[in-house]
Amino acid sequence: MDPKQYSIGVIPGDGTGPEVIKEGIKVLKALSEKSGVKFNFKRFDIGGDRYLRDGTLLPDSIINELKKCDAIYLGAIGTPNVKPGVLERGILLKLRFELDLYVNLRPVKLIPGVETPLKSINPEDIDFVVVRENTEGLYCGCGAFFKKNTPDEVAIQESINTRSGVERCIRFAFEYCKKRNGKGKVTLCGKSNVLNYEWDLWLRVFEEVKKEYPEIETDYQHVDALCMWMIKRPEQYDVIVTNNMFGDIITDIGAVLQGGLGVAAGANINPGVRGMFEPIGGSAPKYAGKNIINPIACILAGQMMLEFLGENEMACSIQRAVEKVVKGHMKSMDAGRMGMGTSDVGDMIAGYLKY
Ligand code: IPM
Ligand code: MN
Repeated sequence: MDPKQYSIGVIPGDGTGPEVIKEGIKVLKALSEKSGVKFNFKRFDIGGDRYLRDGTLLPDSIINELKKCDAIYLGAIGTPNVKPGVLERGILLKLRFELDLYVNLRPVKLIPGVETPLKSINPEDIDFVVVRENTEGLYCGCGAFFKKNTPDEVAIQESINTRSGVERCIRFAFEYCKKRNGKGKVTLCGKSNVLNYEWDLWLRVFEEVKKEYPEIETDYQHVDALCMWMIKRPEQYDVIVTNNMFGDIITDIGAVLQGGLGVAAGANINPGVRGMFEPIGGSAPKYAGKNIINPIACILAGQMMLEFLGENEMACSIQRAVEKVVKGHMKSMDAGRMGMGTSDVGDMIAGYLKY
């Protein structure tokens, strides 16, 4: 039989993106040697550096190529000399929207040995996942100026919530909860006391979908209260589902709880169709080229990619290797304080893989 093959679109991007992607690919190649599964990596040169060089953001031809890949592995996009919003809307959000990656899945899991700012907490108390809607809400870019640059100026930024978009996201949260084998609980995070149209729709759909999952416990929390409870009692969460904007904010809190951006990975997925996997920390230009950035977030993004592809054994072997290296060798998860270089972390994790 021919060996199994996957085509992986790789976007190393800017800043520390290429450095961490290199380590992620190192780990995937090491797994490939052990398992016989082949990864065919296809690189795409897009990002802030490319934009500054020749004005290219994300052409349709690249979108079409990416659509043909089994998965996409993204380093980071972001260059200081580009006006805020250009790369975000022109590349990152365009990737999410054009590829219809409607779920942004962000696990918040404290790996034993990693320091969390929370006092007297056990690693098993921080183990949940945020399902963030990824193609609608305030991120859709709908709005307008009226009387711009006058004293009477008006700025409108609209939040678009479609019934089908809300429903597919909430349904994914319940399905994922079932699969995850955690506490069996889905918490809807909203703001129904003030944003009465948006959250009325979300709550109605939530009530409807939850009937199909009688075995799953449900809860609703306002986003402000949830920010507090994430810090005070994180052990209550299993799956949190929320809209694009709230998901963006609460997952940064989540990243801090699990030890910072050095270990926080995320997946942008269209379930069963395609997915894009990334460390969520951004391009961190000040650390670029110094071999001091933590590649674990990117390596864990690779693990999420393998899970998405159904390669659970390989995914587990990454998890175990990361746990060993974190516990046994790393001084900190922060850039420059790890007690070893970016490439050493990758080498060590690749060396610990058992398959
Ligand atoms: C993230 C980032 C992006 C977002 C930005 C860079 C567009 O903060 O992935 O969380 O807001 O979604
Ligand atoms: Mn963010």
